Amino acid sequence: MEKPKKLLVLTGGGDCPGLNAVIRGVAKRARKEKGWEVYGSVEAFNGVFNEPQELIRLTSKVTAGIHVKGGTILKTTNKGNPLNFPVVQPDGSVQMSDRSDDLVRRLKELKFDAIVNIGGDGSQKISKALYDKGLPIIGVPKTIDNDLAATDVTFGFQTAVQIATDSFDKLVTTAESHHRVMIMEVMGRDAGWIALHTAIAGGAEICLIPEIPYDIHKLVRRLNLRYKKGRGFANIVVAEGAKPKEGTITSRAGEKGSEHVRLGGVAYQLSQQLKDAGCKAEIRETVLGHVQRGGTPVAFDRVLATLFGVKAFELVLANDFGKMVSFRNNTVTAVTLEEATSSHHVVEKDSYLVQAAKGLNISFGD
Ligand code: F6P
Repeated sequence: MEKPKKLLVLTGGGDCPGLNAVIRGVAKRARKEKGWEVYGSVEAFNGVFNEPQELIRLTSKVTAGIHVKGGTILKTTNKGNPLNFPVVQPDGSVQMSDRSDDLVRRLKELKFDAIVNIGGDGSQKISKALYDKGLPIIGVPKTIDNDLAATDVTFGFQTAVQIATDSFDKLVTTAESHHRVMIMEVMGRDAGWIALHTAIAGGAEICLIPEIPYDIHKLVRRLNLRYKKGRGFANIVVAEGAKPKEGTITSRAGEKGSEHVRLGGVAYQLSQQLKDAGCKAEIRETVLGHVQRGGTPVAFDRVLATLFGVKAFELVLANDFGKMVSFRNNTVTAVTLEEATSSHHVVEKDSYLVQAAKGLNISFGD
């Protein structure tokens, strides 16, 4: 009897609605072919590094119905880069070390014929490095931030925008009742996609994004004018990476082993800046935070994630490794990992989306 072929799936980086739908898509499509066994590595590549190893066989019982669930049944981490891996020393300190050769050796020993790495920008850079070291790997893009250039959309984004819009709608009624300025901070790192889509969907007066630094005095003038015209309230959406023209982003150091600084808190900075610049209205701040990536994915994200999972397995079947699944021109396709990791997708200042928002009288403070 022929030996079964083995496929390993993992999720890396921050969680994102739709991850489970990809896992299920890969596993279900693989079940249609003879002789494939699909496994999941727990917490990105940690499942391979851990002693004992934590690898789960993804049977139909394990994956049934998981596409509806948020998070990832495989767990995840943003501190598991095998090329820059945090290793705890006997004295408790953490030192970074390149464990990629060790990882490749372990995966070969385990006799995996293919790896599907589901993750964002950082994870796909890891996929590329491991592919260059000889691993048969396929990337699947995920991020609520929608900041990957090689795919028109990523799953998780629509869910995040929906959650942000639902929250925004709730803040409008309380802003109106109290004649307040309500600031709502959303995620997105250095891309303003979630903020911009939420501002248009919700009907914000002001939308601040990292790509367009704001002038605080222009914002105060805009708010004062709105109050003078009798519309005694205003709603602002601010992306966590937004910054004033003369200033920096609001951030703090990430945890040990994390590759990113932590963003968050710009809503409070903005509130203070508005007061200092003469805004007389009462201001309240809401930092939405991780609710944006929690819970059930909306139908669009479930469909996209499932298609990505199916496509990832079909690339494996075709031995077409070193690729990342992508959605372009209304169809699911694949790009090289090289292309996938070479540029970043941020909001263009002169794009139609920004122009249309300005046409709706949404101010960017520029
Ligand atoms: O990249 C997704 C994201 O949710 C960003 O929007 C946010 O800045 C970051 O992850 C938060 O990361 P963590 O979960 O580590 O706090």
